[in-house]
Amino acid sequence: MSNIGSYDQRIKGFSWSIAEKELDYQQDGDINIGWYCSDRICRQGKGDKLALIWQGATGNEKRYTYNDVRRASNTIAKYLVDLGIHPGDRVCLFMDKIPELYIGLVGILKSGAVAQPLFSAFGDEALLLRLKDAQTSAIITQRKHAGKVRNILSQLPCLEHVIIVDYDGKKPLQEREKAFSLEDMPPVEDFESYPAKAETHSMLHYTSGTTGQPKGVKHVHDSLVSQYLTTKWVLDLRDDDIYWCTADPGWVTGTSYGVIGPWSLGVTQCVTDIGFSADNWYAFIEKQRITVWYSAPTAIRSLMKAGDEVVKKYDLSSLRHLVSVGEPLNPEAVVWSQKVYGKPFHDSYWQTETGSIMISNYPGMEIKPGSMGKPFPGITAAILDPINYEPISEPGVVGLIAFQPDWPARMRTYWNNEATFQNKFRNGWYLPGDRGRLDKDGYFWFVGRDDDIINTAGHLVSPFEVESALLEHPAVAESAVVAKPDEINMEVVKAFVALKPGFAASDDLELNIMNFIRKKLSPLAMPQEIEFVDSLPKTRSGKIMRRLLHAREWGEAIGDTSTLEDNE
Ligand code: WT7
Repeated sequence: MSNIGSYDQRIKGFSWSIAEKELDYQQDGDINIGWYCSDRICRQGKGDKLALIWQGATGNEKRYTYNDVRRASNTIAKYLVDLGIHPGDRVCLFMDKIPELYIGLVGILKSGAVAQPLFSAFGDEALLLRLKDAQTSAIITQRKHAGKVRNILSQLPCLEHVIIVDYDGKKPLQEREKAFSLEDMPPVEDFESYPAKAETHSMLHYTSGTTGQPKGVKHVHDSLVSQYLTTKWVLDLRDDDIYWCTADPGWVTGTSYGVIGPWSLGVTQCVTDIGFSADNWYAFIEKQRITVWYSAPTAIRSLMKAGDEVVKKYDLSSLRHLVSVGEPLNPEAVVWSQKVYGKPFHDSYWQTETGSIMISNYPGMEIKPGSMGKPFPGITAAILDPINYEPISEPGVVGLIAFQPDWPARMRTYWNNEATFQNKFRNGWYLPGDRGRLDKDGYFWFVGRDDDIINTAGHLVSPFEVESALLEHPAVAESAVVAKPDEINMEVVKAFVALKPGFAASDDLELNIMNFIRKKLSPLAMPQEIEFVDSLPKTRSGKIMRRLLHAREWGEAIGDTSTLEDNE
């Protein structure tokens, strides 16, 4: 029997108080997520249980019990407080998937500061925008990433501390840099976690916006209530599970379900920083005896491509439950996983702003391959007509996916951007910016995004952010960035570029521009293809007709371009 049991029974008379009771959370009481993920599990007598098994690229391992996590996060929390970090200050985590990243998140939350995780592959410019916007006070990073911070430090007067977790003493520390080593610091046995209340700010995750500016998504400690119960009922985690979430905590999946979910349930989780290959991943599952696996469609498609034979080389019999998130999960992937692993991947749908899973296929519920499943108990979801924003009751009609904004993990606002936050609501509904349809059995089907944002390998990229970075390249006069279909990544970034006089299109220039974007923004935002054009199609008012270029890439009918112009 799964944790959720019968979905139909659970939705009847559902209340989030189910989770609050299990968490012993009293209304208006303290609910510090960091404390829940460490101290509370130890108090339940699980201090000696493994919280984290970390495997490095060479197969080397580090193991941390819940007591280890409790003490190490105390050490980090106390260090931050001693530095003068105040409750509510933003502390950025900018690291590869090393143990300090996971334990650091718990430590920051315990101190009362706000954790701001950023993907370690971000380049200078992407990092600068997000640290500046958040007025971040401290960044915790590794030697290998400190150079990027140094490049932008002079533009960040608020960033008082650059904390390096693997300082080796070889080169002198530079301005504002401090060495902090979990291994060398005396472990702090007792630390009183900041008495965070439900509405205390916990996390600041950045997501791509529909303008050039990334948006900081403000979450609060109350999100634990949703994250705990969705982990229990969707990921079906139990006491004896060995869990693997493949997402990087630079993104929301890696925090909501790569730290908070599993640790608030006291489950053992595994992490590896090893690069992707079917052999690497299967060997990891076999070695660690992974039971529950939370991954993403791009990875699943790559595993499909690697074929069925490689699966047979490994003993994957430990796997009992598979879940996917981040992009549309192809029906073929569901059927294929059933064939090769003997279990289907269960799709789950949510986003940075929702903080927790909104729609999913639950253990025990019939899966319709290609469908995202049904709303989590307590979530009121609908498909709205895009004109009056009223729910469409007729099955099969495409409209806007919408939610009643009343679940604990929902974002509270966009940082410094209340107007954009308010603009996400229509007629009392929260609009995630996606289109979908509902079938006669109440299953939701994803149709596409309702904006220009590109979803490449599960990562959202703003075409505007890439376009403005392109304009900084000396050869680029103007550009338009759109999604291009891709077999594995679903979408990749494609740029149309018109050059300045005196520059000629060439393969070298294409590579040069690609690298420019990779370094400035990130490998994900880097165009996989650049098409040099003499000029870009524009509306009468001079706006670039991105949709026309998009339609061409996807082989869609462009239709009457005068209508396109009028729609601008
Ligand atoms: C956007 C959110 C929290 C998940 C990690 C990404 C798309 C997400 C699915 C799915 C189709 C999906 C949506 C959503 N998306 N899950 N199961 N099927 N599309 O978080 O970066 O905030 O992206 O990813 O477009 O709005 P994110």
